[in-house]
Amino acid sequence: MKILKITVWVVLALFVILQFIPNTYPEIKKSNEHDLILTGDVPEEVALILKTSCYDCHSNETRYPWYAYIAPISWLVVRDVKNGRGDLNFSEWDSLKSRDKIKLLDEIAEEVEEGNMPMPIYTITHGDASLDDVKKQILVKWTEDLMNDILGE
Ligand code: HEC
Repeated sequence: MKILKITVWVVLALFVILQFIPNTYPEIKKSNEHDLILTGDVPEEVALILKTSCYDCHSNETRYPWYAYIAPISWLVVRDVKNGRGDLNFSEWDSLKSRDKIKLLDEIAEEVEEGNMPMPIYTITHGDASLDDVKKQILVKWTEDLMNDILGE
């Protein structure tokens, strides 16, 4: 019994210590003049899906849930938001070159079709972010339409 008690205290103490390890959260910016949705190239239903399923990791408008502030979960959240924004940041969309937009649209269609995005770990706690076949199709069709628009410019 004594061993069990000590173990519990050690684990608790470690958990508390973890909370003091510095963790820098990617900044939240509410106003982004180069945001994809402001370009008008996004039908409303597509905008809604992107906002619900992608924007937490792929924009400057991340909504951090309460558990995002608790280590060690916080480290995973910070890593995913940093890497997500690094690959694709919808808040910076309109400052990209046409060539980069096309490349990303192609990757979006691929990731969505293959079910890699949104990340499965995310949809555990964000059920409404899951994409059914209808939503997947809406997104993929939009990427194709926008690619054609950009190529036709
Ligand atoms: C929980 C965070 C999270 C969510 C939500 C999310 N992503 Fe990602 N996404 C990432 C991370 C992290 C990476 C970088 C993966 C890597 O570096 O391995 C990434 C990478 C990507 C890439 C680039 C892949 C490549 O080959 O470079 C695309 C495209 C993408 N995501 C699209 C989406 C779309 C579209 C959605 C919404 C339907 C979405 N993601 C939702 C975290 C997320």
